[in-house]
Parts: sequence; C-alpha cells; structure tokens
Amino acid sequence: MRRIDFHIEAGESLIVVGESLSEAVNYLKGENTFIITDNNVSRLYGSQFPEATVFEIDAGESSKTLGVVDELCHRLSERGADRHSFLLGIGGGVVCDITGLVASLFMRGIGHGFVSTTLLSQVDASVGGKTGVNSGFYKNVIGTFRLPSFVICDISMLKTLPESEYVSGLGELIKSAAIADRDLFFEIAGNIDRIMNRDTDILERMVYQSLRIKTSVVEEDFTERGVRRLLNFGHTFGHAIEMLGDMPHGMAVMQGMLLASRWSMLRGYLSESDYRELKSLIEAMGITPMTIFPGGLIELVRGDKKKSGTNVNFVFLEGIGKAKSEIVSFDEIDAFVSSIE
Ligand SMILES: NC(=O)c1ccc[n+]([C@@H]2O[C@H](COP(=O)([O-])OP(=O)(O)OC[C@H]3O[C@@H](n4cnc5c(N)ncnc54)[C@H](O)[C@@H]3O)[C@@H](O)[C@H]2O)c1
Repeated sequence: MRRIDFHIEAGESLIVVGESLSEAVNYLKGENTFIITDNNVSRLYGSQFPEATVFEIDAGESSKTLGVVDELCHRLSERGADRHSFLLGIGGGVVCDITGLVASLFMRGIGHGFVSTTLLSQVDASVGGKTGVNSGFYKNVIGTFRLPSFVICDISMLKTLPESEYVSGLGELIKSAAIADRDLFFEIAGNIDRIMNRDTDILERMVYQSLRIKTSVVEEDFTERGVRRLLNFGHTFGHAIEMLGDMPHGMAVMQGMLLASRWSMLRGYLSESDYRELKSLIEAMGITPMTIFPGGLIELVRGDKKKSGTNVNFVFLEGIGKAKSEIVSFDEIDAFVSSIE
C-alpha cells in the first residue's frame, strides 16, 4: 500500500493506493454516512460496502446531469442528512464527479471521500478536486472545485472492469507519462503484457506514479490557470470525439493525443521518433487512429470550456515527458483537422 498526502490551499486529501474497499469504514468522517454508487458497482461490490444508506444511480455518462444531482440532494434531505453528514462515492469517474458536486452543493458543502473503482478514476477523475456534470452536448461545463478528504484506490477491483473501460483508464495513464514522465512512459511500453493482464503489483506502482504527477501539478495550480492545463493533453479533441462517438473517455483521449501529437510534430515541437513511440504505444492498446472525423467535431471543440473567445488553450508535446500549452485559434484547429481528413 502506498499513500500520498496531498495538500493545497483549498484543503487536503489522503490518497491510498492499494487499500481495500473493506477498510473504507476506517476513513469515514462526519456523523452519518451516505453512499453514492452506480448499479454495476453496487451489484458487484454492494455486500462489501460500509454500513450506510446507499443511493444508486444508473451507470454511465448519461447520469452526469444536474437533474441527477438535484434528485440526490432531494433524497439526502428526505433521509435527514445535514451539514455534518458525509458522502462516500464508490465508483468510477461518473460517480466521483457527481458525488463531489453533490458534496459541494448540499447544505453549501459537506464532507466527502471516494473509493475509486475504475482505472480512469484512480489515475485521474477521483483526484484533484474537479467535480462536474454535462450540459446538453457539452462535457463537465457545470462543476466546482472541491477536494475529497480521502481517495481509496482499490487495485483489486480493477479485475472486474470491462476491457474497454480498463483500456480507457490506460489512456489517462499514458497521458500523464507523456506530459511529465519519460521513464514511466517507457516502463508502460516495456510492460504491456503484464499491464494488459492486470498484474496488481505493476498496476499499483503505475497508479501511484501517475498520481504523483497529477498531485504535484494540482498542488502547483489547483484552479487551472497555468501548469494544470497540461493535464488536458489530448482532451480538446478527445472531449469532442467522446461526445460525438459515444466512446469511453480515455479512448477518446487517446485519439485526441494522437491528433495533438501529430499537430505537435507538424509544428516542429515534437520529433518524429517520439511521435512514433506514442503512436505505437497507443496502437498497442488496440486503438486504431481515426482518419475520418464526424461532422460537428470543430463545433464541439468550439464549445470546449477551455476556450477563451475565439481561441483555445491547446496542449502540445515537446517530447515524451514534456508538454506546453499554447493559445491557438479555431481557424488554426480547423485548418489542421482539414489537412488530415
Ligand atoms: N474530475 C476529473 O478530474 C475527471 C478527470 C477525468 C475524467 N473525468 C470523468 O470521469 C468520467 C469517466 O469515468 P470512468 O471511465 O471511470 O467511467 P464510469 O464511472 O462511467 O465507469 C465505467 C463503467 O465501469 C463500471 N464500473 C466501475 N467500477 C467497476 C468495477 N470495479 N468493476 C466493473 N465495472 C465497474 C461502471 O458502472 C461503468 O459502467 C467521465 O465523465 C469524465 O468526464 C473526470
């Protein structure tokens, strides 16, 4: 088991990688606990949940709406929750994003923690304090920043993840390595078989290393005014592809990384050999690069919340392990996408 004490001005979080769901009871704070989970996680692991009132949402991105948040706040009120109550989200990124948002809105804010159950939420969604739901076609445009008091990453729960969700999580793991840790990147590339076989030891180490990257970036820039933007590598196109293609988040991010790294190479920032390393690792995950983009991609990129006016902060790679953010215009993005179709 490995732990990270994550401190920022807005609060602190204890992250425990390799801890198990059955120990979650020892981390709970507050007077009475309410659990938010989804129907898949509840079916698989409900018998191991700590004693608490459980609210189940439908699994999947379609639950990330203000309506679901409102419904959960209503149910909390009905069951007598107050400002001393504690929310425990047990699930993947969807459950974590919703639980965090409910925790920051209910009674103007109550305590919360997570048992993170997907690879994607372990390496990314559950850590860093971003909460959010979607609005129409636009991803995560309604949200807050609020740190969970703890995040338990139970590696053994990854064994039951559907393959596509597992690979989706690997996308965010590769992203962290690509922007900040060349050694981690080549460790992933050199251990593909063990990773694909979900070897617990290597996964625990990689989730931990990837979280070290994320927490150190967020410690420096909690509200995403600077270096935290680098974590969005692959996300400008990735979010748009995710919304259009109904694809798991991390897979869409891998498509986005392929595009962003190709653009980085065309702009002279990234060497062709590093571009090929990234492309071959992503292809080894079973991802086929898209060459035809559905109509509406640019329109969705324009709706990306990282835009400012007619520009967007776009993350380019300067090498494996090194990224930079630059303001680009939508016309430049348009021209790039048109050039590869
Ligand atoms: N807040 C952030 O910083 C942040 C960062 C990245 C992504 N996200 C968000 O995270 C979401 C995606 O998260 P996700 O990929 O975890 O998706 P998810 O929460 O929808 O989980 C994927 C699927 O796996 C199932 N599942 C969860 N744990 C399981 C387990 N242990 N065994 C078997 N099945 C299990 C779920 O029921 C669901 O069907 C997106 O909405 C994305 O916007 C947020």
